Amino acid sequence: MTQSAVDLTAPCPAPLPELAGNATVRESAVVTHHGAGPDAAWWRQAVIYQIYPRSWADSNGDGIGDLPGITARLDHLSRLGVDAIWLSPFYTSPQADAGYDVADYRDVDPLFGTLPDADALIERARELGLRVIVDLVPNHSSDEHAWFQAALGAAPGSPERDLYMFRDGAGKHGELPPNNWQSVFGGPAWTRVIGPDGRPEQWYLHLFDPKQPDFNWEHPAVRAEFESVLRFWLDRGVDGFRVDVAHGLIKAEGLPDAQERTTMLGDTVSDHERGDIDDTDDSGDGYRVDTPYWDQDGVHEVYRAWRQVLERYGAPDRILCAEAWVEPQSRAVLYTRPDEMHQAFNFDFLQTPWRATDLTAVIESSLRAADSVGAPSTWVLSNHDVVRHATRLGYTPGHRVPNGISAGDPQPDRALGLHRARAATALMLALPGGAYLYQGEELGLPDSTDLPHRLRQDPTFARTDGAEIGRDGCRVPLPWVSGAPGLGFGPSAATWLPQPASYDGYAVDRQDGVAGSTLELYRSLLAARRDLSLGTASLTFVEGYSGDVVAFVSDAEARDRVLVVTNLGAVPVALPPGSEVIVASGPLVDAGVPTDTTVWARWA
Ligand code: GLC
Ligand code: CA
Repeated sequence: MTQSAVDLTAPCPAPLPELAGNATVRESAVVTHHGAGPDAAWWRQAVIYQIYPRSWADSNGDGIGDLPGITARLDHLSRLGVDAIWLSPFYTSPQADAGYDVADYRDVDPLFGTLPDADALIERARELGLRVIVDLVPNHSSDEHAWFQAALGAAPGSPERDLYMFRDGAGKHGELPPNNWQSVFGGPAWTRVIGPDGRPEQWYLHLFDPKQPDFNWEHPAVRAEFESVLRFWLDRGVDGFRVDVAHGLIKAEGLPDAQERTTMLGDTVSDHERGDIDDTDDSGDGYRVDTPYWDQDGVHEVYRAWRQVLERYGAPDRILCAEAWVEPQSRAVLYTRPDEMHQAFNFDFLQTPWRATDLTAVIESSLRAADSVGAPSTWVLSNHDVVRHATRLGYTPGHRVPNGISAGDPQPDRALGLHRARAATALMLALPGGAYLYQGEELGLPDSTDLPHRLRQDPTFARTDGAEIGRDGCRVPLPWVSGAPGLGFGPSAATWLPQPASYDGYAVDRQDGVAGSTLELYRSLLAARRDLSLGTASLTFVEGYSGDVVAFVSDAEARDRVLVVTNLGAVPVALPPGSEVIVASGPLVDAGVPTDTTVWARWA
């Protein structure tokens, strides 16, 4: 198979012949995780699908996705079989960071529609049985937020300035930034204000772009404002919030210098400098970089207060999910203690190289860490900030996939990446807890890896002078209709980023109803996951396979026992006698489960 001819229509798995030779395969005596049981709250097992509004579907032909576009296509998701959607920000914003720079937390940007459009979306989702999670961006606002504009217009030391992080500069004349903190997007994390008389005066902190000033979370008015924003959206009927940069709100007292700079993915620059080899040492407990603006203990008080706000809305539960790039896992799960958030993203799983021993280890440690606080683990492989897993897995395991890929970089093996991505997803969707999908992964979409630099919009690209390519490659508008202008993204041919020619082959209509297509695989996995209650099942690892295999048994009350096998080795592995295949991520062979394939099987 050539790189461009990705096989989206591989045949359906055939029933496996019974094989001898696996008599040694048996369940471990130790149950790694005890299931939450059939009565568990919805969010303990939900599959939540991330919609990136500007790239999902465009209703008015301007080339940018919008809320009416989403509403019109929501049935795609009820057919897919997910439980909920999470919408990246659609609020009023100058779009300096694609909407993660919010100027008004209580309104919709005209680019995406109106408040009534948001209401209509929530209502349609409700009709289709989909819950709705919205994004909340509390660490920073846009510099065009009314509060920041007022702060700029007010004097140093004024109450207006106290809502953000203004400081006098260091150096004789305040000409140096207050400390050495660097922006996640590159460059200093401080920008100097120019006063009305044209003279430079104080500096303000922005952990991200200069157009994203950090709030002062020590200030009660900031806390009260966000509790009010929560209620605003809860009253409109949303089921919860994904909390952006949840580990960043509180800064260490006195704002001491930091040891290193953090990039997207929570990597430190010193990690990057180690080169291309990922030795995975950063997923083990015991490793912690003390950074004065991440994961300060004070953040937890904020989330305890928010939990109280949500609890007042009664049943069914409204939820909070933390985006917190925090190591080690024992610190990350503190965000999901019983009186704080319900879930946190499990980025350790996303960052684990395609190696069976590493995957087994991260599954086990994630479940144990989440269990230690009584929270469900979550699982995720792709989102709007990382290279899509169908592309990531097209590199040799251990190759450190950078923040974005350009035409000049080594290119992934697309067919291999897709094959592994299907196996990885099938593994993920068998795991107990919550799972997050990112739009387009159900089509097997790869990143666009050859966008012209002049079209790049991620601020990271400009702020690092192109040293980091940035996240545009995973944000390209979705292909809905093969051969149509803009591949059916909207009523015109316009798309805010160009779609690679290969996207035609991934369009929804090319895969709908096609046996073996990635879309049909996702539908089968999600249906079987629900049928078999895998999200609330117990998990016990299976012994007897080689170290190239991830294998466990999922056992739900009053359901079939399900054996899950992912083979990452070079030779096929057999299933135990008497097992019956339910779903497989790719074609099986006579000798059993081939390389880079996941099977779910009934095991008596
Ligand atoms: C989060 C978002 C990312 C954004 C950043 C700043 O990491 O996922 O897209 O750029 O926060 O808000
Ligand atoms: Ca539009």
